[in-house]
Amino acid sequence: MLRPLLIILFAIQIGFVTARPQSYAVWAADSAIARKQGNGLTAQGAAIISYEHGELQWGLRLLFERTGNRTYFDYIQSGVDNVVTADGTPHGSYTLTDYVLDPLRVGPTFLYLYKQTKQTKYKAAADVFRSQLNSHPRTAEGQFWHKLRYFNQGWLDGIYMGEIFYAQYTTDFQSNNATAWSDITRQFQLMFKNTLQNETAPNSFGLLYHGYDFSHTTVWASPDRGHSPEVWDRALGWYMMALVDVLEIIPTSDPGHATILNILKTLAPRVRDAAHPTTGVWWLVITQPGRARNYFESSGTSMFIYSLLKAVRLGYVNDSDGSIVSAARKAYDYVTANWVKPTSDGTFDWQNTVVVGSLDQAGDFNYYVSQAVDVNDLKGLAAFLLASLEIERL
Ligand SMILES: *[C@@H]1O[C@H](CO)[C@@H](O)[C@H](O)[C@H]1NC(C)=O
Ligand SMILES: *[C@@H]1O[C@H](CO)[C@@H](O)[C@H](O)[C@H]1NC(C)=O
Ligand SMILES: *[C@@H]1O[C@H](CO)[C@@H](O)[C@H](O)[C@H]1NC(C)=O
Ligand SMILES: *[C@@H]1O[C@H](CO)[C@@H](O)[C@H](O)[C@H]1NC(C)=O
Repeated sequence: MLRPLLIILFAIQIGFVTARPQSYAVWAADSAIARKQGNGLTAQGAAIISYEHGELQWGLRLLFERTGNRTYFDYIQSGVDNVVTADGTPHGSYTLTDYVLDPLRVGPTFLYLYKQTKQTKYKAAADVFRSQLNSHPRTAEGQFWHKLRYFNQGWLDGIYMGEIFYAQYTTDFQSNNATAWSDITRQFQLMFKNTLQNETAPNSFGLLYHGYDFSHTTVWASPDRGHSPEVWDRALGWYMMALVDVLEIIPTSDPGHATILNILKTLAPRVRDAAHPTTGVWWLVITQPGRARNYFESSGTSMFIYSLLKAVRLGYVNDSDGSIVSAARKAYDYVTANWVKPTSDGTFDWQNTVVVGSLDQAGDFNYYVSQAVDVNDLKGLAAFLLASLEIERL
């Protein structure tokens, strides 16, 4: 009776059969590390302060805490050491007066390394990022502009990029700064209010448009409210991840905690219900289900799985009928069956992540579906690591 077993083992060996790995989280992290992704350098080896590296580092930190394996910690640290000088100056790919929120997503890693190592260069680098927020341009209501060159625009992406850092810095160094806590809360609130699809909006899922222009002047701004025309999966994914991550940081005694929690309670069931019924995953342009050229997209899908599961795990969202967890599980099964492709070197190739989605052009359906889709895009792969960490806690 040994022969069938040997055949199976042989088949696994040469890759005919892919056994479900013990941990997709470990496999995702190891695949990214093997390809030198998210290490503070571009593929050409130039230093860069990049939000997607910050996203991966957030996942590697959680994996380090779960496994105790220092490989992950060391990778985070060497990645940051590529972009912070010995005196704590962020690398020159960052310019404070460009007033871009994206690079600040690496800030939580600086704070984490400072806590772990007590090396002051990490604190100094975080201080530079924090000072950016003091002079960062805002709308008349107080929303940080996504970038200085995007006049008066708030984007969902910017909430994930800026607010996790702002909140972690406040917790670590100014925990009694009520002004800072209310400012952080206001960033979430303003974005929600100004991008929410109301009931009479076309294709309404009650979700959030990608962004808004407070002055209602840019090409994509709706005339009466200034929002962009479509709900883009990754933008909403960033915002959902920001909600669940910031709720762990902001003190429950601060009134902002309940405000942000209410936003999450509102959106979580709507995200669940917006999934494609058969596959369980989400369209690139959520507002245009089934339209020709729309497709299922892997970064937004992974971000939703992470956010929904974390929301339930921490008791932020009531899932007494189990529908949120089962929606996340269903989506995850599709993801691992379709978007994780083992390679001959033991890593896997991550499929189907759209490379960009910006509001620097028309911001319409045609724009989103015309953007390139790539293999091993870190924004999606890091989100899959996060989703896997949550799935593996169930
Ligand atoms: C830590 O992780 C690395 C990368 O996955 C692996 O090669 C190594 O064996 C792990 N170490 C331990 C002690 O598990
Ligand atoms: C508290 O936060 C506000 C808003 O970010 C900031 O202007 C102020 O300098 C902070 N206060 C202290 C004591 O750091
Ligand atoms: C609902 O949203 C649409 C699209 O932004 C807008 O045109 C309309 O004025 C809104 N209706 C109400 C009652 O706010
Ligand atoms: C959760 O929702 C269910 C159904 O609406 C309700 O019966 C239950 O009391 C809620 N549980 C909590 C803890 O709010």
